[in-house]
Amino acid sequence: MDIYAVVGNPVAHSKSPKIHNLFASQTGQGLEYTAIQAPLDGFGNTVNNFFGNGGRGLNVTVPFKEEAWKLAEERTARAELAGAVNTMYRKNGILYGDNTDGAGLVRDLTVNNGLDLKGKRILILGAGGAVRGVLMPMLEQGPESVTLANRTVSKAQALVELFASYGQLEASGFGELTTSFDLIINGTSASLAGDLPPISPQVIGKNTVTYDMMYGNEATVFNAWAAQHGAVLCIDGLGMLVEQAAEAFTVWRGIRPKTGAVLEALRAGD
Ligand code: ATR
Repeated sequence: MDIYAVVGNPVAHSKSPKIHNLFASQTGQGLEYTAIQAPLDGFGNTVNNFFGNGGRGLNVTVPFKEEAWKLAEERTARAELAGAVNTMYRKNGILYGDNTDGAGLVRDLTVNNGLDLKGKRILILGAGGAVRGVLMPMLEQGPESVTLANRTVSKAQALVELFASYGQLEASGFGELTTSFDLIINGTSASLAGDLPPISPQVIGKNTVTYDMMYGNEATVFNAWAAQHGAVLCIDGLGMLVEQAAEAFTVWRGIRPKTGAVLEALRAGD
């Protein structure tokens, strides 16, 4: 049996084992996928032990994605720019780091929700690791512009400089946002604390779609706010979670699992 796992801290509530085991049975791949909690100061040892014992591939989650980026001996182009690694594997004795988060977000937006990002005005809230991880794949979709708004504007400016050559990007503070956007993505961790980024409802026009990278049993605070102010569609991040997993599974196994039934099973809480 080929062994895979997700490494994080904490990791007990991770949905990745369930998702990947469903992918494995759907595609008939003989693999087992578990969750490993690494000590906060022991991520490198955990990864080395895992691969030393014949493990085939790892997903990496909070708080180790940046450490995984450093630990990887080779990185894919998308991981390089993301500054974070969520997918690891060994090939010819080399430890590879990839990042499938951005591809997962784009696939959830375009395939699962049928949105075309080309020529669209996009607002992204936040400028931390989660946002950096998805910027390149988002810019590759050819939006008219991407505005990065963050509480700490200097962090948004730093990302704009880093990604400036890949598309029309600009930095902003929350208070300066006074026009509407086609798509607004909440990539702040504010939802975790039940907080709302302090932005004007003017960002929501008659056809605005919102996307919160977070998810929960109920609408996130951000999506509930957006719906109240007239957003036409409010999507949470569960689809991104399933799609980043499908992309990792494809990287490891060379076969792309179907995600619809898996997403439904998670929504139903099976
Ligand atoms: P992650 O890996 O989730 O991106 P991070 O790198 O710590 O975590 O980034 C968290 C992001 O959420 C940042 O953009 C942060 O804003 P600052 O850069 O100003 O710290 C944002 N954030 C966190 N709590 C927030 C809140 N209550 N309101 C608005 N933004 C918040």
